[in-house]
Amino acid sequence: MTLTTPTPATTEISSAAYHAVPEGADPKVVAWVDTIAELTKPERIVWCDGSPQEWDRLTREMVAAGTLIKLNPEHRPYSFLARSNPSDVARVESRTFICSEREEDAGPTNNWVAPAEMRATFSEIFDGSMRGRTMYVMPFSMGPLGSPLAKLGVQVTDSPYVVASMAVMTRMGSEALKLIGEDTEWVAAVHSVGAPLEPGQADVPWPCNDTKYISHFPETREIWSYGSAYGGNAILAKKSFALRIASVLARDEGWLAEHMLLLKVTNPRGRVFHVAAAFPSACGKTNLAMLKPSIPGWKVETIGDDIAWLRPGPDGRLRAINPEAGFFGVAPGTSPKTNETAIETLWGNTIFTNVALREDGDVWWEGLTDKPPAGLTDWQGNPWSPESGTPAAHPNSRFTVAAHQAPSIAETWNDPQGVVVDAIIFGGRRATNVPLVVEARDWEHGVYIGATVSSERTAAAEGAVGELRRDPFAMMPFCGYNMADHWAHWLRVGEGLRSAGNMPRIFQVNWFRKDVDGKFLWPGFAENARVLEWILDRVDGRATARETALGYAPAEGALNVDGLELSDEQVENLFAIDPEAWLNELDDTERFFDTFGDRVPPALREQLKDLRERLAAE
Ligand code: OXD
Ligand code: MN
Repeated sequence: MTLTTPTPATTEISSAAYHAVPEGADPKVVAWVDTIAELTKPERIVWCDGSPQEWDRLTREMVAAGTLIKLNPEHRPYSFLARSNPSDVARVESRTFICSEREEDAGPTNNWVAPAEMRATFSEIFDGSMRGRTMYVMPFSMGPLGSPLAKLGVQVTDSPYVVASMAVMTRMGSEALKLIGEDTEWVAAVHSVGAPLEPGQADVPWPCNDTKYISHFPETREIWSYGSAYGGNAILAKKSFALRIASVLARDEGWLAEHMLLLKVTNPRGRVFHVAAAFPSACGKTNLAMLKPSIPGWKVETIGDDIAWLRPGPDGRLRAINPEAGFFGVAPGTSPKTNETAIETLWGNTIFTNVALREDGDVWWEGLTDKPPAGLTDWQGNPWSPESGTPAAHPNSRFTVAAHQAPSIAETWNDPQGVVVDAIIFGGRRATNVPLVVEARDWEHGVYIGATVSSERTAAAEGAVGELRRDPFAMMPFCGYNMADHWAHWLRVGEGLRSAGNMPRIFQVNWFRKDVDGKFLWPGFAENARVLEWILDRVDGRATARETALGYAPAEGALNVDGLELSDEQVENLFAIDPEAWLNELDDTERFFDTFGDRVPPALREQLKDLRERLAAE
């Protein structure tokens, strides 16, 4: 790899005394760590080994420093609550940059700054940014250690909270470091909270900086993040590496890095399927990843809840891994009713961030129970009651927990060869137009469906209510290159799979369709298993379908609604197609495609035209 590290304005030489390098560490990694230390000037450097002892030491130190609150071990052993600075509570897309050499390679949906300009900025803001702090070095593997589908990285950070999170979310430590040799490719990630300490200056529980940058250099495979310690801004293995940088690696190497959960599903006849599914943020992905089917005989097991890497294997079949090792899930709304498995997963060994604290030293969030317990402390540390008028837990409060702790985890989740993908699903949050489920006519139509994933804006978001918020492939904030090139790449991957004779089938789902009174038509949650049943029976060649303008919908009676309180009219409405509303939507799609100019693959323009013709004929 080629690294172009900014030159520090002033230089202090690192001494062996503060930089104890593990034996056998690759000299290029060591040299890179030295360069970053010369720039950021930490007080000392610690190489993380990823051991449970290290996690224990770090969490104890953070409890002493006030960064973590230890939860009552009677209720939640080995678990902690972190309260972030109220200004640092979510990913900041407005401060996320793709610094490709050419602006058109970042595309119109990414913020772009020329790499030289960003490096000049970084040579100033990172200069001395870790003063008074420890710089932790974290070698890590995305994907099972040594897997042909995995990738390696090294992140440095001055946040112990980020270290404890990365230890859960990735395979981090000595074993990953051993896999980095002279010729190994690895992704370099630099993270600083941007809050240097003067000698004698007292620290705060959640150091951060109002100025934030989450920057990606796709050509040199580097990530530089400054100013935030929250989630995707700081746990750089996740959205920054596993999606933004990995999508570029995948484009160059012929595979796919996608914002998809990964499921193993066994049907009542014992046949095993694997499903990869893309949903925009806040569409209940973790709930689907941990689904407990309502229908007898079906079994769903979890492989991943957020990101999947898919690669055509030597046999031409599409194989997938979950590159992550943990779940960083949204807490509010998670309950025994909506996601019993998640509740069981969180019994202990969990870091909660920005949830409410109970009097008895356990945690609480909106939706966990119907009624909040008395004596809560809110996510900002203030006494809270239902009269407070603000949420007790921040709406983006999170749990960080190891994937293997989920009772639903599939025994193959760690298989270095990955699992064979039988079906790919695209979902959005659509009150209108999009049916409960349809099967794409073919791969190209499936790519068109992926490219047009969208949700209606709600009152909570900027823009006119009802206007479509586009989120192609649920990758809008996560694609490290021009989104239209991503569509072309999907078409190319499809050609390869077709010539090998092994194509996963593609489906579109929408759990969120509403009736004229604004009520959800579909019960969702565990009942979504019925939709999976139809999808996988299609793959199995046993479910019947009827052709519609939008693709293949379940034939009459083919969707199992036994025992649901759904009238025939409601079922009909779940699949109703209003040609006029659709033709309007297609005009909007055309305007959306136009924002990418001639980078839109002609095959997708063709799909749009064909769909228009099919609808006009209805
Ligand atoms: C996430 C997201 O946090 O998609 O996973 O925003
Ligand atoms: Mn996500």
